[in-house]
Amino acid sequence: MHQWDSHTYANHYWHPVAAISHLHPGEVLEVTVLDQPLLLTWPTGEQPRAFRNRCPHRGVAFRPRAETGQPCRRLICPYHGWTYDLRGELLAAAREAEFEQNFDRREWRLQELACRIDGPLIWIALSDQALTLEEQLQLIHTEAGGAWNAASDLLRQSRSNLACNWKIAHDNTLDDYHVAIAHPTTLHREQGPVRDYRHRFSRHNNLLETPHPDGGRFLTFGLPPWSHLLVWPDGRLAFLEFIPDQPDRCTMQLRLFATSDAMDSTSADTWLMQMLTFLEEDKALVESAQHGYQDEFKPGPPHRLERRILHWQGLYRERLESAGISIVERSQEAIFVLRS
Ligand code: FES
Ligand SMILES: [Fe+2]
Repeated sequence: MHQWDSHTYANHYWHPVAAISHLHPGEVLEVTVLDQPLLLTWPTGEQPRAFRNRCPHRGVAFRPRAETGQPCRRLICPYHGWTYDLRGELLAAAREAEFEQNFDRREWRLQELACRIDGPLIWIALSDQALTLEEQLQLIHTEAGGAWNAASDLLRQSRSNLACNWKIAHDNTLDDYHVAIAHPTTLHREQGPVRDYRHRFSRHNNLLETPHPDGGRFLTFGLPPWSHLLVWPDGRLAFLEFIPDQPDRCTMQLRLFATSDAMDSTSADTWLMQMLTFLEEDKALVESAQHGYQDEFKPGPPHRLERRILHWQGLYRERLESAGISIVERSQEAIFVLRS
């Protein structure tokens, strides 16, 4: 099941691989998605592109890791020196006239993946079975358009491990039933009274809208495959993912965005600390739930405030069914799926 999540299920979606502020025209950036090394390039005057970071000759990777894009005109493989441009075309191979068979450079392009900019992020699709990015981000485009496109600076980011299956963490972040109880002094303060909660659903997204105490709307989007976007009325964005790792572990990745010059470094640090405080409250709960699910366990009934969880679980169930994985198996052993 775990392999299915990170291979088959993941292939149906786009993945945010870098902040747009981390790559500029003429640069290359190495990123990793679900353990797959990729290269992002931005040929000057064109759009960013994504390639598997794997030399077509003997599979060696091109560059050492760097946190942000590095200026680059040519990608030169460290093994035998095959040299590529930022469009993935082979420009030269060493001793090109001496291959055992006819050698045509045009047959040895880098393997390319679909790549797009949307909002403050660069997205890639791992296969051609992926939804369109428009479908995947539909409610964001209609409900958060202004902030989504304006908050282009990555202010802070954080990655950490959770000792639970990613589905438990994802469910938790879609769970609007627990906020007032589990986060009384953190998230609950931003989201305000439960009676004012409003839900909205599109085919692949869901949204909790609440009036922010400082005025305006506070928006919490749930997105496939395992993501969340929080939008503050002042235009700040938090993008949160729970990425599969082991059956009982996942990686939590948080990125905080705002418009350039919107925040000094102290305020950005404070914001990150507030986010990590609230996520620490969730960590204790989801890791405990992972334990609770380990032995025979029949979960309680869903609450109206858990409708976003049911919506997402419906999408996940569709994926299982379309892969021929029995729904009976799932309904009898929903928790097995959560764990595995
Ligand atoms: S592996 Fe890259 S040139 Fe041989
Ligand atoms: Fe929570």
